[in-house]
Amino acid sequence: MTSITITRPDDWHLHLRDGEMLKGVLPDTSAHFRRAIIMPNLVPPVVTTADAIRYRDRIVACIPDGDDFTPLMTLYLTETTDPDDVVTGFKDGIITAVKLYPAGATTNSESGVTDIAKVLPVLEKMAEAGIPLCMHGEVTNADVDIFDREAVFIETVLDPLRKRLPELKIIMEHVTTKDGVDYVLGEEHGLAATLTTHHLIINRNTILVGGIKPHYYCLPIAKREVHRQALVKAAVSGDRRIFLGTDSAPHIDPLKENACGCAGIYSSINTMSCLAHVFEDAGALDKLESFASLNGPAFYGLSKNTATMTLTKRENPVEFPKTIETGEGAVTVFDPQFPLHWEAE
Ligand code: DOR
Ligand code: ZN
Repeated sequence: MTSITITRPDDWHLHLRDGEMLKGVLPDTSAHFRRAIIMPNLVPPVVTTADAIRYRDRIVACIPDGDDFTPLMTLYLTETTDPDDVVTGFKDGIITAVKLYPAGATTNSESGVTDIAKVLPVLEKMAEAGIPLCMHGEVTNADVDIFDREAVFIETVLDPLRKRLPELKIIMEHVTTKDGVDYVLGEEHGLAATLTTHHLIINRNTILVGGIKPHYYCLPIAKREVHRQALVKAAVSGDRRIFLGTDSAPHIDPLKENACGCAGIYSSINTMSCLAHVFEDAGALDKLESFASLNGPAFYGLSKNTATMTLTKRENPVEFPKTIETGEGAVTVFDPQFPLHWEAE
């Protein structure tokens, strides 16, 4: 097969940033994706519906002419979030979900949640109103090894929350472990997982063997190969609970190539080519559409896109730039370390 046409995909986890960076990166997403769930971890974060309206307007102003793209806004959950503002923002169609960052888990998460008990009143209102919760699922306790933080989160935070509030719709984001996919696939209702493009391709050796490679550093950190294989198996299964969230997260190169480098991998520009490669490799090209275009909207209760995307396999590798230029500086593009032959149009 040299060409496939699928329903136009959406990205259910994306960092667009703001200002010059937003201008520089948005066209790579709007060229391929019809919608994206926009992460609220700006400085300062997007905390209220009023913040989300202003941020949405700044995004919309940067959409290139001719691209049909809708940003789906989220609110950054804090311990002082007003439940009524969340419900109003959702009912008015301003926000699509709320994002939970455990305080200190990742980039700009300082205003996040230190103890889930403190946000239970908001979560209860969200469950009642059918508002989805996007979760960065890692504990931050200093005594928990960075490679175990997701598994410990599932056991100590996610599972008790599911038991306490089974009606709350939860998206366990950027799952990186077999434990994560097994947990999600063991639950019938109200729980789904997003997988990133890079976690389907790299493992922890990619970051650390032969010298430290800061452009493969992200959070949650990539795990052992057995975990990567479990993620690929889940992605290509087509299961309705598993869908794409690229977590494409641009940082300028000086902040990545640094004694204390930022977490984040920029993949918006070549994600669909990478995914077609991974799915073809697994003999499951026919499941790419479920993963990238159908399962996400179904879980969120939204309709699937009417437009399509055609991916064509070229004889010669498709060339992507090594870096993209933004008004803030260069951003390195995710290098999957294999030639990409699939071109997305
Ligand atoms: O690698 C990451 N980068 N993981 C996150 O959770 C945040 C993101 C960012 O904002 O840079
Ligand atoms: Zn993210």
